[in-house]
Amino acid sequence: MVSNRVIDFNAAQQAGGVGVAIYNTLEQHSGFWFGWDGQIEESGSPEPKSITVGGHTTVTEPLTEPDYNDYYLGYSNSVLWPVFHNRLDLAQFEAGYYSSYVAVNQRFARHLAPLLQPDDVIWVHDYHLVPMALELRKLGVENPIGFFLHIPIGPAQAMLAIPENKEIARALGAYDLIGLQTQSDVRNLIDFLQQSVAGRLLPSGRIRVFEAELDIGCFPVGIDPNDFAFGPGEAEALPPTETGDLHQIIGIDRLDYTKGLPQKFRAYGKFLEEYPEYRRRIVLSQFAPPTRESVEAYADIKAELESLAGSINGRYGELDWVPINYIHRTIPRSELRDIYRTSRVGLVTPLKDGMNLVAKEYIASQDPKDPGVLVMSKFAGAADQLPDCVLVNPYDIADIVQGIRIALEMPRDERCARHEKLLRNVRKSDSNAWSRSFFSELAKAGQRRAGRFSKSSDMAKALERLQASVKKNSTHSRAAANVGT
Ligand code: G6P
Repeated sequence: MVSNRVIDFNAAQQAGGVGVAIYNTLEQHSGFWFGWDGQIEESGSPEPKSITVGGHTTVTEPLTEPDYNDYYLGYSNSVLWPVFHNRLDLAQFEAGYYSSYVAVNQRFARHLAPLLQPDDVIWVHDYHLVPMALELRKLGVENPIGFFLHIPIGPAQAMLAIPENKEIARALGAYDLIGLQTQSDVRNLIDFLQQSVAGRLLPSGRIRVFEAELDIGCFPVGIDPNDFAFGPGEAEALPPTETGDLHQIIGIDRLDYTKGLPQKFRAYGKFLEEYPEYRRRIVLSQFAPPTRESVEAYADIKAELESLAGSINGRYGELDWVPINYIHRTIPRSELRDIYRTSRVGLVTPLKDGMNLVAKEYIASQDPKDPGVLVMSKFAGAADQLPDCVLVNPYDIADIVQGIRIALEMPRDERCARHEKLLRNVRKSDSNAWSRSFFSELAKAGQRRAGRFSKSSDMAKALERLQASVKKNSTHSRAAANVGT
């Protein structure tokens, strides 16, 4: 597994959905995790360090300060992140970012290549590492390499605005398989490859990019619902949430401009204005952990949100009631489940999101006999899989206001019926199903590559073993992972 950020197995809390998904996968397949250790060195030439904790091995290295600024904050988070989320207005195409982006990928590839065994299958994650396969191939690595993008793909017109769009398209062509979150991402990527580098859709369904052929598929990432599910007797131990009590509406989002937080706060303020009978009866608890703070657009959103929370609390608050609890820090993962359980409404309204695992965690945490209601943006990837939640347009304040009202007024029977369907979907496409289906497709894609090798080669044997382990793990269950949100 290769990703920019690697979870420190010793730390009790940290990481986003990507880290948790990779962690869950490594619980089921032997292997190691390669990437950045989260440290920044002033200068020098970073070297990888291998650490094994409780049977899990990570091989990580620091970034230098220039790498951190130009590869991580720069090209990854000020070019690819905004463009892939269709926010061209926030993209900063600065000279120097791209060369640093490629240089870090080259260095990671140089350090990873000697650690690879002939029978390894390599799974690269996310937008920081698009050129990874191309760089590994240049070093002679012939193993199957898959890429999963956890964020959305923007429409081709946005993607083509990236000055290096042809290089990005060519680099994607070096993978055997590309996995995306939704069918609309698949369509956008095909469109982009066709327009950027005259990619050709073949009758087999594969895409030809220059001399390479690759598979592109939709693999919606999931959670391990067992980490959140109710144990026997746990429902009875919860504080009551029946009418008459203060109902909590919960929001948990990194403080990112893609998450639609100002719109959410405005809608909540509007709700209190239009439905005064709910004042003192509800509270919005919004956790917004800091992220990428030195990027200007993130500082702007922080200031905007603080001012909105202050003005809503100032306008409607009382001595004994604060309408919004705005908490600008990370929640320990161990506390998440109880926070979700005691919240009558989960309010998840990103303007655009690859998947949104908070939505799935909220559903998995509810008491099936008295569940809360999920109000979710129709532009989150999870909306495709969770049509039974209350779907809203996050750009339309009036629509969010009505979503909140519907959720608060929904009778118990309807809450239970909707929750049952939602939970079924969360369970069906859990993190195990995600990694199993991706590995299985990667093994098939890799077989074409291995076709060039003899049946008794290490590569052919590795692919057979991979197929066997994918089958075996489909019935495997495991203990909860103690990692971050
Ligand atoms: C979010 C995105 C992931 C991305 C991660 C990086 O969780 O959904 O796709 O990999 O952010 O976070 P970082 O803190 O490393 O910038």
